[in-house]
Amino acid sequence: MKGTAKIKALSALFAVTMLSATSITYMQTVKAEDGLKDDGLPNGISKVMVKPATNDGPLDEIFSGWHFRSKETKNLQKDDFENPGYLWVEQGEELWATKDGSEGKSCKSCHNDAAKTMKGVGAEMPKWNAKLKRPLTLEQRINTCRTESMGAKEWKWESSQMLSMTAFVRNLSRGMPMNVQADGPMKPWVEKGKKIYYTRVGQLNMSCSNCHEDNYGKYIRADHLSQGQSNGFPTYRLKWQKLGSLHRRFKGCMKNIRATPYKPGSDEFVALEIYLSQRGKGLEIETPAVRN
Ligand code: HEC
Ligand code: HEC
Repeated sequence: MKGTAKIKALSALFAVTMLSATSITYMQTVKAEDGLKDDGLPNGISKVMVKPATNDGPLDEIFSGWHFRSKETKNLQKDDFENPGYLWVEQGEELWATKDGSEGKSCKSCHNDAAKTMKGVGAEMPKWNAKLKRPLTLEQRINTCRTESMGAKEWKWESSQMLSMTAFVRNLSRGMPMNVQADGPMKPWVEKGKKIYYTRVGQLNMSCSNCHEDNYGKYIRADHLSQGQSNGFPTYRLKWQKLGSLHRRFKGCMKNIRATPYKPGSDEFVALEIYLSQRGKGLEIETPAVRN
C-alpha cells in the first residue's frame, strides 16, 4: 500500500473505531419530532421517518437520509427552484419526447403522458421482469426499452441522459412510499442483497451494517451517518457537484472501506438495491434529493 493511501485508510479506520466511543450523542437529537420541528420537510414529502411495517426487521425507525443533513443542505431540498437536481429532471422531460433509434420513436410514442403512465413506477423499482426472468432496475428497464423497442443504443449507467431520465421518472413518484416487491421470484434477490449488506469486506473489514445500522446518527469525520437509505436517488451530491446514481454511491462506500467495488448494474448491486428498497419500505421517494 502506498504511504498516503495507508494514512487515509488508517484515519478512516480510526474514525470508524472511534464511533462507539464518541461522546456526541446525536442519536438523542434525531428523533423525528425534533427534526421535523427544527427543519421542516423536503418539498413534496409528508414524512422523513416511518415505522417499519413488521417488527422482524433490524430498524425500529426508518429515517430518510435527509434527516441527518445540515440545515443548509436541507434548505436546498425545500424549494424546487433551489434544488440543483431539477436541472436533470427538466432535461429528462425533454428527452422523454425526443425521438431516437432506428424505429424513429420517443418514450412518449409508446408511453404518452409520463405524468399519468409513469406515476408510481419509480417507487416499485427494481421490478421483476417475467420475460427476462430477472429483476430490472429503472436504468435497466429504460435500456431494455431503448434496445428492444426503439432500436436505440443503451445509455451508459452514469451518463447525463440516464441520470436525467431516471431523475425525471422517479420524480413522478415523489411523495409516494417505496414499495418494491420482495416475495415470489424477488425473494432470492432480497436474500442475496441482505447477505452482501451484512458481509464484512475490504481492508477495513467492514459491512454496510457496521456504519448504517450500528452507528447511524453518529459522527464520522464531519458528517452524520445516515441509515444509507435509497429513497432520494438519483441524488444531487454537493461533493459530486452533480446528480449521481445509487450504484455510484455504493461504489463510493465500498471504496471508503478499501474494498473492490462491484460494477454499476452488476447483479450484486441490483440485489443490494432491492434489499435497500425493502429495508426502507414506506419511506417516501424524494428524487432528486440533495445530500452533501
Ligand atoms: C465506513 C462507514 C460506511 C460503510 C461501511 C458504508 N457506508 Fe454508506 N455512507 C457512509 C457515509 C459517511 C455516507 C454519507 C453520509 C450518510 O448518508 O450516511 C454514506 C452514504 C450512503 C448512502 C446514501 C444515503 C443518502 O441518504 O443519500 C447509501 C445509499 C449508502 N451509504 C449505502 C451503503 C451500502 C449499501 C454500503 C455497503 C456496501 C455502505 N453504504 C457502507 C459510510 C459508510
Ligand atoms: C415501442 C414502444 C416503447 C418505447 C418507445 C418505450 N417503451 Fe418503455 N415500455 C414498453 C413496453 C412494452 C413496456 C412493458 C410494459 C409492461 O411490462 O407492462 C415498457 C415498460 C417501461 C417501463 C416500466 C413500466 C412499469 O410499469 O414497470 C419504464 C419505466 C419505461 N418503459 C420507460 C421507457 C422510457 C424512459 C423510454 C424512452 C427512453 C421508453 N420506455 C420507450 C414500450 C416502449
